[in-house]
Amino acid sequence: MATTVQDLAEMAGDEEITMLTAYDAPTAAIVDETGVDVILVGDSMGNAVLGHDSTLPVTVEEMQSRTAAVARATDDAMVVADMPFLSYGVDEGEAVENCGRMLKEADANAVKLESGPHTVDLTERLVELGIPVMAHLGLTPQRVNQLGGYFRQGTDEKSAGEMLELAKSHEEAGAFSLVLEHVPSNVAAQITEAIDIPTIGIGAGPDTDGQVLVVNDVFGLSDRSPYFSEQFGDVKSEMERAVAGFRDAVESGEFPAEDHSYSEDEIDDIY
Ligand code: KIV
Ligand code: NA
Repeated sequence: MATTVQDLAEMAGDEEITMLTAYDAPTAAIVDETGVDVILVGDSMGNAVLGHDSTLPVTVEEMQSRTAAVARATDDAMVVADMPFLSYGVDEGEAVENCGRMLKEADANAVKLESGPHTVDLTERLVELGIPVMAHLGLTPQRVNQLGGYFRQGTDEKSAGEMLELAKSHEEAGAFSLVLEHVPSNVAAQITEAIDIPTIGIGAGPDTDGQVLVVNDVFGLSDRSPYFSEQFGDVKSEMERAVAGFRDAVESGEFPAEDHSYSEDEIDDIY
């Protein structure tokens, strides 16, 4: 069995939990083989792979397709499908069906919901049905139009207190972990201390039980990345180098060479 909700619970407080996004099979295979604990098929795919300027246009079908691709390439990590804007919160039956599809048809192990007062009952219902739920508080980018931008959340005592209460109510509702995005480190530390389920931070300081980043930012593939991300490689330069190599080789006639060309006595299989 791949990484389970129980494994993550055991890791919390003991060893750091690692989570990265992935949106396709080859990337998921790399992330999985490298030993990252959780792969999030984030709705950040709206920006990262679909060319949108927010996460709002991502559809259930797109999430299902990408989650299935990631799950096919993953052996050990837990695969979490991020539920798109308005795929939950409108109607409970519809939300349950949309979330259920991610497990039933796309082979995810869990779903993530951008949480709020409106997701407490839904979380309980999903868990009751056997659909593990990762909660998400702090900056919830699906609310960008309401928030007026991608601002840090929980910066005053009242909103930090409300976040703590929501964290507790989602734990009580049965969520197995909680993402905290773009909140002050002390608030993330306080919430981590107050609840037993593992917290996974992004822009939330060092005191959560784990860390998550968008894999495009880690690769150095993003045109724009938040100040709290970190680039651990320069994949974009390598891709540019390969594309330029192809272009130059075709233009100069170096490619295709003898080796690439058809010959009568070879078998037809392309490999
Ligand atoms: O969509 C995403 O990538 C996320 C993470 C940043 C937590 O929600
Ligand atoms: Na997301």
